[in-house]
Amino acid sequence: MASRILSLPIRAVRKALSPISSRFNAMLFDWRSRHREYLSRQLLFDTIVGFVADCQIEGDYLEFGCFGGGSLVDIFHTMRGHHRLANVQFFIFDSFEGLPEPTGLDANEFRRYERGQFACSLDQYIANIRRQGVPIERARCIPGWYDKTLNAELKKNLRIKKASIVLIDCDLYESTVPVLDFIADYIQDGTVLIFDDWFSYKGRLDLGEARAFNEWLAKNPRIHATEYHKAGRTMISFIMKVD
Ligand SMILES: C[S@@+](CC[C@H](N)C(=O)[O-])C[C@H]1O[C@@H](n2cnc3c(N)ncnc32)[C@H](O)[C@@H]1O
Repeated sequence: MASRILSLPIRAVRKALSPISSRFNAMLFDWRSRHREYLSRQLLFDTIVGFVADCQIEGDYLEFGCFGGGSLVDIFHTMRGHHRLANVQFFIFDSFEGLPEPTGLDANEFRRYERGQFACSLDQYIANIRRQGVPIERARCIPGWYDKTLNAELKKNLRIKKASIVLIDCDLYESTVPVLDFIADYIQDGTVLIFDDWFSYKGRLDLGEARAFNEWLAKNPRIHATEYHKAGRTMISFIMKVD
């Protein structure tokens, strides 16, 4: 009882400080980025959100692979910095059980990944993003395995119109294939696709996310990609165009 009474003022203080701590987080991210020589993930996000804002590309943010919410938190505060929050809905797709068992191409000589890696429960994820200033009602979560959840029925339910930015951070080829099939309808001129693990397979483009993307482009000749920025050790981004 006593601890419940004590936690009330603590919660009130936390709530009152929340806007300040979000702003502080955004400034910290910015500072960290500017003091690195290579294009860091945060600077990449900043560049892409700035591009989308300048070109007035309206559409939602879709993230495939959120783990503990780190990338969503970074993107959210970056959008806030660019005054984009009012224009965007956030859709977050994850198993919340970590990676599936790597099979097929993902299971061959590159055993970097394993089943359950990056597992973070939905509750933990929600607590993380809340603590870092992202109101949970702003980010719609779709839990489940991509090969089961990403289908026409989900599309009807979500009513996503178009995507402005899509972050694909699900590591594996087998995971990326259903993601790309799902987002094809949401691509418009200027949509930016970010791949977190493009170079993760010793730079080989015939494996992982890179393979899935190149196969998808070949399957969808009306969709074109212009390489944009690379960042960190393994990230790349593309600006999309649709005939
Ligand atoms: C590297 S983590 C994402 C990291 C996160 N974007 C960040 O920056 O903090 C990869 C995520 O992809 C999810 N994932 C991979 N394959 C999946 C699949 N087939 N279905 C659902 N989620 C999947 C995992 O659960 C995991 O959370």
